[in-house]
Amino acid sequence: MNNAISHHKEKANNNHLNNDAIKLFDQTLEFVSLIVHDLQGPIASMKTLTKFLMSGKYNPENDTHAALVRSCKNALERTESIIQDLLDSADQGDFALRLNNDLCDLRDIVKNSADALAGSAYDYAVSLRLDLPKKPAIVKIDRYYLARVIDNLIFNALKHSPCGKSVIIRLVSHNSEYVISITDQGSGLNEDDKDVIFDKYSQGSLRKNGKYRGVGLGLYFCKLAICAMGGRIWVESTSGEGASFKIALKAEESD
Ligand SMILES: Nc1ncnc2c1ncn2[C@@H]1O[C@H](COP(=O)(O)OP(=O)(O)OP(=O)(O)O)[C@@H](O)[C@H]1O
Ligand SMILES: [Mg+2]
Repeated sequence: MNNAISHHKEKANNNHLNNDAIKLFDQTLEFVSLIVHDLQGPIASMKTLTKFLMSGKYNPENDTHAALVRSCKNALERTESIIQDLLDSADQGDFALRLNNDLCDLRDIVKNSADALAGSAYDYAVSLRLDLPKKPAIVKIDRYYLARVIDNLIFNALKHSPCGKSVIIRLVSHNSEYVISITDQGSGLNEDDKDVIFDKYSQGSLRKNGKYRGVGLGLYFCKLAICAMGGRIWVESTSGEGASFKIALKAEESD
């Protein structure tokens, strides 16, 4: 991916395009890469359901099976909204994060993400657990971008979880903020990796294997989007003992 970008840049330079054009090209390429990247989670969920339906085992009376169908519907809606964002940007000729902040209840956004990725969780044989407060958790943020961030963190947690383990998605109120945490029981991160994993195309030192693939764009996007919303994102982890990715967002007064 890095090579492809520098190749195109070089081409643009050779064609004597000015710096603004090169910058616009970079920005557009990054925007499109991030969109394509974030389609992976919902598509994986839809693929699981399709495979399941084709296996002939589907039983609408079974709660797990019914949850898979809901997951597929949710994942389809996710896919539509991500594609719509791309089309809107193309229409406006503006390939940058365009935040549309409004008041949202974080419980809905977190629950929707968990629903959308239930199909992937099933595929990885990992259980997704939600721990949400009873009271509304109101923040002023862009719900579309936050959903993409949480999807990314859940998808990472699933990819790094051994079969049969759990991923816990928790939402708590802390001082004047709400903190969302996505905690897994996977391999965790060493200190060096913690410093670099939010950088573009960084995958730390974890060796890629058949189960775990990627390009290192997810956490870069998460940081970009959360910082643009005025929040904070970080990881807490001890190597070998799982990881907990956390997002803090300023709480708004609820009526
Ligand atoms: N839950 C996790 N447990 C352990 N390491 C993680 C976890 N989430 C992310 N990482 C580390 O951070 C790196 C960067 O994550 P990021 O989501 O940016 O990229 P990726 O998942 O490798 O690829 P992709 O571009 O498909 O998201 C990962 O390659 C991995 O080394
Ligand atoms: Mg990722």
